[in-house]
Amino acid sequence: AAITVYARERGAELGDLFGIFFEDLNHAADGGLYAELVQNRSFEFDPIDHPDYDALTAWEKVERGGGKASLTIGETDPVNARNRHYAVIEIETEGGGVGLMNRGFNTGIPVKQGESYAFSVYARRDGSVGEPVRVTLEGADGQVYGQAVLHVGSSEWAKYEAVITADATDYGGRLAIVTKGSGRLCLDLVSLFPVRTFRGRSNGLREDIASLIADLKPKFMRFPGGCLVHDGSLDADDRDSMYRWKNTIGPLEERPARRNNWRYNQTLGLGYYEYFLFCEDIGAKPIPILPAGYDPHHKRIVPLDELQPWIDDALDLIEFARGDASTEWGGIRAKLGHPEPFGLEYIGIGNEEVGEPFFERYAYFHRAIKAKYPDIKVINSSGPFAAGGEYERGWASARENGSDLVDEHYYQSPEWFLANYDRYDRFKADESKVFLGEYASWGNTYYNALAEAAFMTGLEKNAHAVGLACYAPMLCNVDYINWKPDMIWFNNREAFGTANYYVQQLFMHHQGDHLLKIEASGLRKPAARPPAPIAGALSLGTELGTVQYWDIRLVNDDTGETLHFEGLNETLTDSREDRERGSAKRSLGLGRTDWERYTLHLKAKKHSGPRGFYIHFGQ
Ligand code: AHR
Repeated sequence: AAITVYARERGAELGDLFGIFFEDLNHAADGGLYAELVQNRSFEFDPIDHPDYDALTAWEKVERGGGKASLTIGETDPVNARNRHYAVIEIETEGGGVGLMNRGFNTGIPVKQGESYAFSVYARRDGSVGEPVRVTLEGADGQVYGQAVLHVGSSEWAKYEAVITADATDYGGRLAIVTKGSGRLCLDLVSLFPVRTFRGRSNGLREDIASLIADLKPKFMRFPGGCLVHDGSLDADDRDSMYRWKNTIGPLEERPARRNNWRYNQTLGLGYYEYFLFCEDIGAKPIPILPAGYDPHHKRIVPLDELQPWIDDALDLIEFARGDASTEWGGIRAKLGHPEPFGLEYIGIGNEEVGEPFFERYAYFHRAIKAKYPDIKVINSSGPFAAGGEYERGWASARENGSDLVDEHYYQSPEWFLANYDRYDRFKADESKVFLGEYASWGNTYYNALAEAAFMTGLEKNAHAVGLACYAPMLCNVDYINWKPDMIWFNNREAFGTANYYVQQLFMHHQGDHLLKIEASGLRKPAARPPAPIAGALSLGTELGTVQYWDIRLVNDDTGETLHFEGLNETLTDSREDRERGSAKRSLGLGRTDWERYTLHLKAKKHSGPRGFYIHFGQ
């Protein structure tokens, strides 16, 4: 056999083909990449984020040695009106000290011997102003690993900072703030970061997770989502607003906490400035995705005559990234600490949006962006599953508008990926390019990773049509799973790449510049083998709602043979996680190679508004 590579006959450029996608789901940012160790640091957790939350989630009162105090939430005189809540400790009896304690994420605050931690807090005090406030890193049993003493000497809010070094290791640590005396102590934005963050940045990123990401050497990073971009209200000042980038920059106390689509609270401590910095640090081109004034989950639609501020958000973001310090938004970036532009080549409008209201609005964004910044590549959307009428509508819209790229998303079985290796063979070089913005096969096994690798060779060979591709989702905290599989898993102290991670890394490390003409001769084709018997499993799930399923049968239309999914009387709530966890899985053991038709009979009762049902039959 011989393979001839024609080094001078160059085909399509591979450009920025392989990159990464970051979305704060699975606690990827708060409790993940964002190195903040205090959970609910601004007392802004709210049932709107999650029914189990309140303003004191992850906090508890401390009353030592006969001390007595009340711990409540104040909101009349906040540090900043955009984050109204703060903790109020009314000292009744000082005893051995009273105050409050935070238990961090996962098993607790990961305290490491010899490591230093940067503590900060906004505080004010009425009464006993001379009385010290002790800040301790300690174990669940009260053993102290390190401490600092603050003197809160004013009834006006002020920021206090200290560095605490730990003398022991405990991954279930606590942060306690305790005082004596009398009167009232108020606290807000209680923060603790390891001093050692990725590239040593303040308000920085966890070194282990960020390094794993950097080691991929991605060409680009798509952020901040995902569904969390477009799920929310239309009012940027609303607690439940969609993801508006201007809310995510500047001093932390001015960034309003928001409901994260994935049913938790998002501090926005990891915001647009930090995203751009991270991209710069790891050599990835930033690809921000903006909401288009349309929430497909709740069908909230900004009227066309009120669309301009949303379009301005896109134009201002481009100026924020590219403008020099003399421009309005370039000047804001410079004040935040980055006088040089970050640069920006791509911008995405909408995530997975389908429906006419989106496509109608997309056209306005596209025109305005191209009029001011003709060289920016604008990305359109084609919905969630890369099939069907909505998908075609996305591509039609791309053609109508001249979109540079179209975002496709799909999560499928490994067999689907193998069978669709040639998916883009028929795509043309002179059309909008594909941005494969989310894809993964269902699993983190070697087999999944291999199937993805095979598929990625199909992306490479079709670089004439595929411009960008990123696996999704990227990160998952093992104790807060919204979605799996994921590329990197972590807890509060360690992070691991999956087999899928190493496949991605292989392709990113060896991405070429151009396709070359290759000829092979003398290769033997493998003998045709009969198709393997299918052993299948059926999984059900729902998204954004609750559904009760029972009596599920798969009936062979010809023979009447019935497979009854017995005992499935299950209520599934709101997620693909349920699809994995709570769904019916049963082997069908089909051994035939000719086509047979089955009908699925399903009885289901809706309890609360599901957005979609999932029926997944695969191996
Ligand atoms: O990657 C997880 C989710 O899948 C994204 O938020 C969304 O775009 C898609 O449905």
